[in-house]
Amino acid sequence: MAVEIIGTGRAVPDRKVTNQELAGRIDTSDEWIRSHTGIGARHIADENTASSDLGAAAGLQALSWAIEKGAVAELTPAELALTVDVLIVGSTTQDYYGCPATACIVQNKLGVKNAAAMDITVACSSFICGLEIAAALLNTEPRRRRALVIGAEVLSKITNWEDRSTCILFGDGAGAVLLEKTPDNPGTAGNVGRGLLRTILGADGSGWENLFVPRGGTRAPWKKGETVDDGATVVMNGQAVYNFAVGAITDTIAKMMEEEHLEIDDLKCIVPHQANARIVQAAGKRLKIPEEKFYLNLEEYANTSSASIPIALDELNRSGALQKGDLVMTVGFGAGLTYGGNLIRW
Ligand code: COA
Repeated sequence: MAVEIIGTGRAVPDRKVTNQELAGRIDTSDEWIRSHTGIGARHIADENTASSDLGAAAGLQALSWAIEKGAVAELTPAELALTVDVLIVGSTTQDYYGCPATACIVQNKLGVKNAAAMDITVACSSFICGLEIAAALLNTEPRRRRALVIGAEVLSKITNWEDRSTCILFGDGAGAVLLEKTPDNPGTAGNVGRGLLRTILGADGSGWENLFVPRGGTRAPWKKGETVDDGATVVMNGQAVYNFAVGAITDTIAKMMEEEHLEIDDLKCIVPHQANARIVQAAGKRLKIPEEKFYLNLEEYANTSSASIPIALDELNRSGALQKGDLVMTVGFGAGLTYGGNLIRW
């Protein structure tokens, strides 16, 4: 059996905050942010919006796309939702930390009533990991056929807007893909050449302190009567994360290319986690991969963590840049520190 992507979607808040607007509030400049990261703006959710709101909107788009494009033309979005067997939400910014899973809230919003629902929390690597877990769950049970994998983030609510070394980096948004398990073509063995072909996943927990949210978990819970301090926001050792990221992306791409016997021309494009254009450029330089091979949209959205890759996939899909049969590689890294990549035949 193969597990193919039959729909994509995204949801990004309307409010766009440019570098210039940030420079009016903190000691930074458009020139510094662009030259150090490639970021030009970020979209920020309003006070009442949580990750499940953006995640459900992106999920609905993915369901609608599959219907519009004829993959399941006979169904309405509500009917299609009922056929989804697995719902995975990747998020660093769950509506409620761990209880309940944000996936359950998305399930309720979307009417995906028959699906097992679960969150994946490996920060910016969550979508890459979620795709592999969803495909595995479809493959281990013959009766499971469809899965919705969503990356959804409202990072603006765990961002310290007075810390110029982190607040310039992040944005809000959600992306989604609808997966379908499809039978083997007669005469072909296994899932040769279709859908999700391969995933690499890894972690180096020795680096966890380089990117984390210090307060709110069981190590340092909020106490009654305590005044809110800066601890509920991301703290980061930027240089350490940068060095890890360049190495992780370089190694993951190299491993995938070598083990899957790929030449760079075999790939339509590489969709990296959209954290910093310099990280991608450094990895590309080491691997001698031309910059144009990497799809970057962080100029518009900044780093949306687990949403960045599915948002990019949806843009590529809807613009027609990705066509059936194209080979695409995702690659990413995140807090944990975690990393990974998927190889997908579109
Ligand atoms: N505007 C202006 N100056 C800034 C600034 C900002 N927004 N942020 C930091 N600076 C200053 C620093 O204070 C420092 O000044 P100093 O030399 O006077 O002390 C100088 O710029 C250089 O800071 P540094 O931290 O060395 O910059 P950098 O080149 O390492 O870039 C990051 C910082 C955060 C852009 C970079 O380290 C990075 O992208 N790391 C990875 C982060 C990441 O991807 N996180 C998410 C992972 S999923």
